[in-house]
Amino acid sequence: MPMSRNIEKKIADLVDQLNFHNYRYHVLADPVVSDREYDLLLSELRQLEEAHPQPLRPDSPTRRVGGLPSSEFPPARHFTPMLSLDNSYSRDDVLAFDQRVREGLAGEDVTYVAELKVDGVALSLSYENSLLVRGATRGDGVQGDEITANVRTIRSIPLRLRQPDITCEVRGEVYMSIPDLADLNRQREEEEQPLFANPRNATAGSLKLQDPGLVSRRRLRFFAYWLRCPNPVAATHGEHLRTLRKWGLPVNPHYALCPAIESVFDFHERFQAHRDELPYEIDGTVVKVDDLDQQDRLGATAKSPRSAMAFKFPARQATTVLRGIHLQVGRTGAVTPVALLEPVPLGGSTIQRATLHNEEEIRRKDIRPGDTVVVEKGGDVIPKIVSVVDGMRPEGAEPFNFPDDCPSCGAPLVRDPEEAAVRCENPACPVQLRRRLEHFAARNALDIEGLGPAIIEQLVEQGLVRDAGDLYSLTLESLTGLERMGEKSGRNLLDGLGASRTRPFGRVLFALGIRHVGSTVARTLARNFPSIDRLARASEEDLEAVHEIGPTIARSVAAFLAAPGTGELIGKLRRAGLQLELDVEDAGPERSYFSGKTVVLTGSLSKYTRDQAASLIEQLGGRTSSSVSKKTDLVIAGDQAGSKLARARKLDVAVLSEDEFVERLQESGKP
Ligand code: IVH
Repeated sequence: MPMSRNIEKKIADLVDQLNFHNYRYHVLADPVVSDREYDLLLSELRQLEEAHPQPLRPDSPTRRVGGLPSSEFPPARHFTPMLSLDNSYSRDDVLAFDQRVREGLAGEDVTYVAELKVDGVALSLSYENSLLVRGATRGDGVQGDEITANVRTIRSIPLRLRQPDITCEVRGEVYMSIPDLADLNRQREEEEQPLFANPRNATAGSLKLQDPGLVSRRRLRFFAYWLRCPNPVAATHGEHLRTLRKWGLPVNPHYALCPAIESVFDFHERFQAHRDELPYEIDGTVVKVDDLDQQDRLGATAKSPRSAMAFKFPARQATTVLRGIHLQVGRTGAVTPVALLEPVPLGGSTIQRATLHNEEEIRRKDIRPGDTVVVEKGGDVIPKIVSVVDGMRPEGAEPFNFPDDCPSCGAPLVRDPEEAAVRCENPACPVQLRRRLEHFAARNALDIEGLGPAIIEQLVEQGLVRDAGDLYSLTLESLTGLERMGEKSGRNLLDGLGASRTRPFGRVLFALGIRHVGSTVARTLARNFPSIDRLARASEEDLEAVHEIGPTIARSVAAFLAAPGTGELIGKLRRAGLQLELDVEDAGPERSYFSGKTVVLTGSLSKYTRDQAASLIEQLGGRTSSSVSKKTDLVIAGDQAGSKLARARKLDVAVLSEDEFVERLQESGKP
């Protein structure tokens, strides 16, 4: 069907609007619409594009995640080598650099630009006729990887420049913000995947992913710091930075023109003092000669330009005494050594513990209790022990012997050479059981009120609970026998357990604490195997056939389901009435008005947050979605509902007001 002029224009308008909002948000940091409004425009565009396919505009924001997973990145030759910078660590180094620059320019006046050295990964972008055509990593400087599909997912990188007919190469730094890294690591911890030690590793790891869909979820960002066009567009680096910004690329706002090297030192010290206040990691400043002609005349060595230098901050290190090494047993039996430190201030907080990774690391660094050690937190989320300070070892300090038996239950530890991990494989190990129960009761799992670590410890010690299923056989009498447990808190806990029966299947799956199954994977499993019996029947191949489920997860789920205690545990949970199916629709008496319905929430509700409302709907067997389509069964319209409500009316989808929604919830026994 040929596209009508009207629709074509509407699509073009939406693309332009969205790209404009993107620029306001990522480049000017001054958005004029809310995230929600942006999302609404985006879904409107997506729907129009779907209804009227082809040809899509190359700069349409819906094409950010377009590429297919690839098994290998093609090589990308750089037009001019991508050099790196020489590092300097002291004023003297920088003064010597200034000296060399002046000598190289036979005493001409020199102005410098000081910039922040953002800790990420260098990236080259090619634009032709203002459209992004290639993104490439540095590689060995001559040839990198062509990662265009991944680069297109980075929202701060414009797909089209804001100036027509530009052909140029832009270089800059891709990075991950510190809060985004913390989120990512939290999620990885849940899924028992190795954590990223710092934003640079996380960025490099993300850019290497073969699936642009996964990259887009990593929320990478970009700062441009270099520009070259076939015909020069400016005479100085400072002008290049202004041009980049004008063309719609994000440029770090913190840079300074420095007429003398002294002001570079001021800049450096100012940001060294304030680096913790920035939402991204910086590891120093970069000094560059401002005049591009001077830059050219200074030239480069094989590795780096003579006109620029990195001035690094001292690493964030401190020395302290290692009091001891504690062996932590996790819920899956992994035994990890943790350094217990004499408390020491470092990078804005007090450090008392540091990771020691594994046995091999302790041996390699010859770390012994009593040693004075150097700890570092340079952009690393988790402090680590860098080295032992020579000559300060107290007499008689013995090497740490990793035990052969579990420190909790005494079962022999099993070494897994592949993961360098040591594991206790006794399913009845009391500490493991405690950790499993803590996980089961955690907020993002079954959220059982009144079931904290102290109670769990007693329940396990007294033999009242051997697996999570036993929790549901607890009685008020057995509970009030525990320390610091009165009748009131006993009832409270029983109520908490009662409430956990309504948590949706995906949360139950997550709560089981299967290795490598975090909350996201658990939801994916629930969607694809909508009951525990279906899941139990699935083979490893069936599991792996699901997008997002790799061999490690598949193996782990299959092993869990086949393990001796699992059948019994599931039997207990079934008898306790937990949700072991995706929808309550088929469950007979528990059928609710929301069962099997796809519900869209719009506008603002006065009684609930969006999340609370969504979670209630899910508990009652409904699904929530963010956009209204023909598949939507119900729209709940709060105050100031806008285009979604209009769309629902147009598509003849049922609409409930907040009051009606609350009524339906109450009918289903919800507050
Ligand atoms: S200029 C010719 N400016 O630091 C070298 N680099 O080795 C061009 N970096 O690979 C680099 N912030 O990834 C420059 N404002 C900045 C930077 C910066 C971070 C990175 C870049 C480069 C490394 C230095």
